[in-house]
Amino acid sequence: MKRLLIATGGGDCPGLNAVIRAIVHRASQEGDWEVLGSIQAFNGVLWEPTEVVVLDNKKVAGIHFQGGTIIETTNKGGPFSWPVKNKDGSWTTVDRSDDMIQKLQYMNIDAVINIGGDGSQLISQKLFEKGLDIIGVPKTIDNDLSSTDTTFGFQTAVQIATESVDKLVTTAASHNRVFVLEVMGRYAGWIALNAAVAGGAEVCLIPEFPYDINKAKEALEKRFHYDRGFAVVVVSEGAHRQGGEMVYQENKEVGYRNKRLGGIARQLINELQEAGFEHDMRETVLGHLQRGGIPIAYDRVLSAQFGVKAFEMVLHNDFGKMVAYRHPNFIAVPLKEAIAKPNLVTEDNSLVKTAQGLGISLGI
Ligand code: F6P
Repeated sequence: MKRLLIATGGGDCPGLNAVIRAIVHRASQEGDWEVLGSIQAFNGVLWEPTEVVVLDNKKVAGIHFQGGTIIETTNKGGPFSWPVKNKDGSWTTVDRSDDMIQKLQYMNIDAVINIGGDGSQLISQKLFEKGLDIIGVPKTIDNDLSSTDTTFGFQTAVQIATESVDKLVTTAASHNRVFVLEVMGRYAGWIALNAAVAGGAEVCLIPEFPYDINKAKEALEKRFHYDRGFAVVVVSEGAHRQGGEMVYQENKEVGYRNKRLGGIARQLINELQEAGFEHDMRETVLGHLQRGGIPIAYDRVLSAQFGVKAFEMVLHNDFGKMVAYRHPNFIAVPLKEAIAKPNLVTEDNSLVKTAQGLGISLGI
């Protein structure tokens, strides 16, 4: 029997379970593969005792429409930066990658599939360089990986953000207010831009285009030209004004890998007030509601395709690569290439032109 280990790393994402199920189903057709899942990314392998579960067809039955990941995840630490508590109570990180590779050998693991975003795929690449037979599957609601047309979870997040715009429109219209909806996306404005177009927002501010507060104010004032009006602004969590900085909170979680963005909606309201905008404004921060819950059908289908392709790459010893969707095909891209640059919104993107054509102000 050959052994495959699956890990899910980084923030959770609708569709992760559908990928796990697809890998397990495809592997079971071979008859000579046992699939295991490491609990909480690679922590399950690194912990003493290890926490690894057997994933068979029975275990994955019906999980394709469940949100989250049945094998848990984390965006802290990892084999290259394992948190260790010093005697004085402070924390430091140590490289446990060699230790982990040894443990995987001891566990008779023949191949690893690591499902995760840019941070997790950097870990995959470093483990591959150390000799591990590993394959990456891209995962992110942010859609910020340039080597794949899209990632599962993204459209679900866009759907949730759009439904939120729809809901805010009715309360905004009833009260003649401006509602500022803050959405996720980290350094990429894809969720905001798609939700603004789908939901019919008046203003959309994204990290790639630092905004001029007066331009945003002008666009809103136009809506209130005859005294009464309402508007919805979709702002990406990483958006910031020209010459300004992203809003983020200090994060005390040990080994947390990212900046914890959040708070731009409130800041934007303050900036609009300072700029002289006088109408009522309220903010809604959508947060993790965009990540939880069931994946939409499109993402389940995408997840199934990523999963089956990932296992077939294992069969072909196509290691050191990540599955990428390049319409209409699923291909294998070297991990190094896959993580080389992020997928960010550019001014010449057709969706930007569409947004502008609809009269959505991007604050530029
Ligand atoms: O990368 C996915 C994402 O949801 C980002 O959009 C967001 O900035 C971040 O993760 C939030 O991370 P956490 O779950 O650690 O708060």
